[in-house]
Amino acid sequence: MSLKLNHPVAFVPTMGALHAGHQSLIEIAKSLENEVVVSVFVNPLQFENPDDFLSYPKTLEKDIAIAEASGATFVWSPTFEEIYPGNPELVSAGVIGNLFEGVHRFGHFDGVLTVVKRLFDLVEPKYAIFGEKDFQQLFLIKEMVNRLKLPITVISAPTIREASGLAMSSRNVRLSVSDRSTAAGIYSSLLAATSENEIGRARQVLAKGINSIPGFITDYVEIIDEENFEVASENTANPRAIVAGWINGVRLIDNMVMKKVVASK
Ligand code: PAJ
Repeated sequence: MSLKLNHPVAFVPTMGALHAGHQSLIEIAKSLENEVVVSVFVNPLQFENPDDFLSYPKTLEKDIAIAEASGATFVWSPTFEEIYPGNPELVSAGVIGNLFEGVHRFGHFDGVLTVVKRLFDLVEPKYAIFGEKDFQQLFLIKEMVNRLKLPITVISAPTIREASGLAMSSRNVRLSVSDRSTAAGIYSSLLAATSENEIGRARQVLAKGINSIPGFITDYVEIIDEENFEVASENTANPRAIVAGWINGVRLIDNMVMKKVVASK
């Protein structure tokens, strides 16, 4: 199968249920190239929970309208057979793929890298844009592109948030109005930690904030070195807080750079 595209292409892979976060990626793509491809494919390989896969929101008509209004020239919604015509060549996310998200979503990142590699092979983009919202995913995709020496520039895009600070996510539609305001506590806890300039103190403030969100079941809350996903120490030059957990059966993740926590000299 070959797609008829006008290269060079800027590419935004998605699983649909597009929101302002996706839109911002498409707008960045449009600023880079005229031909902007948006894929909408809910990839079964990256869902460790079959119910989550089956209940993933599907809004293709709306997605096409949003993508086109944001600058997409080609909205591509491939079938399972197009993406996986035979046995897919699995891409391993390695050791870092088994940390944090990988602990709670076993095999998730192998599924993500496998589909992203396949999408890259089919679209052959010059640029591919991914959100910082899924920071571990972004890290692993950059790492795969380097490792496989793919001729693609990966662009990272800032997290778009609701007015409350809650990071936009396709899964937010499953949250009730009151769950949404509770979930904004993730953002305020991250923000509170950014005011600290000592790593131990930042970690304490963050954990305290997250653990006091009513009804939030924490999967992990940590400050890591964003260069390698090791737990950050006072010597870490680029620390980043990462959080994941559940509110009323809806899984949420977020992260934030800890600018003030400076490495000790
Ligand atoms: P999906 O969750 O649809 O996200 C598609 C892209 O939008 C990802 O790069 C994600 O990081 C970005 N994104 C999501 N919410 C965002 C927000 N609030 N602000 C900025 N960017 C945001 O991530 C996936 O799909 C899949 O794993 C995929 C990469 C498509 C592979 O199947």
